[in-house]
Amino acid sequence: MPVIAIASPKGGAGKSTTAVILGTQLAHYGAEVTLLDCGPQPRAGGAAGEHGEDAR
Ligand SMILES: Nc1ncnc2c1ncn2[C@@H]1O[C@H](COP(=O)(O)OP(=O)(O)O)[C@@H](O)[C@H]1O
Ligand SMILES: [Mg+2]
Repeated sequence: MPVIAIASPKGGAGKSTTAVILGTQLAHYGAEVTLLDCGPQPRAGGAAGEHGEDAR
């Protein structure tokens, strides 16, 4: 199972955005994708359509 990490200590660098776009494209081409956004202001879940406290 390949693991791709997008990491930087700088906030607002585009980590979540890049992860969401990369994950959705990999899924589009048939990959099974699990997306974890562990940043202090995670927003990948919201971008992927989840809401509330679980939108991480
Ligand atoms: N390639 C890009 N070009 C322009 N704006 C971008 C790009 N990638 C991200 N952004 C914008 O920058 C802001 C921060 O992105 P985000 O992915 O939340 O950063 P991080 O997860 O590193 O804190 C968001 O408003 C996002 O829309
Ligand atoms: Mg982020």
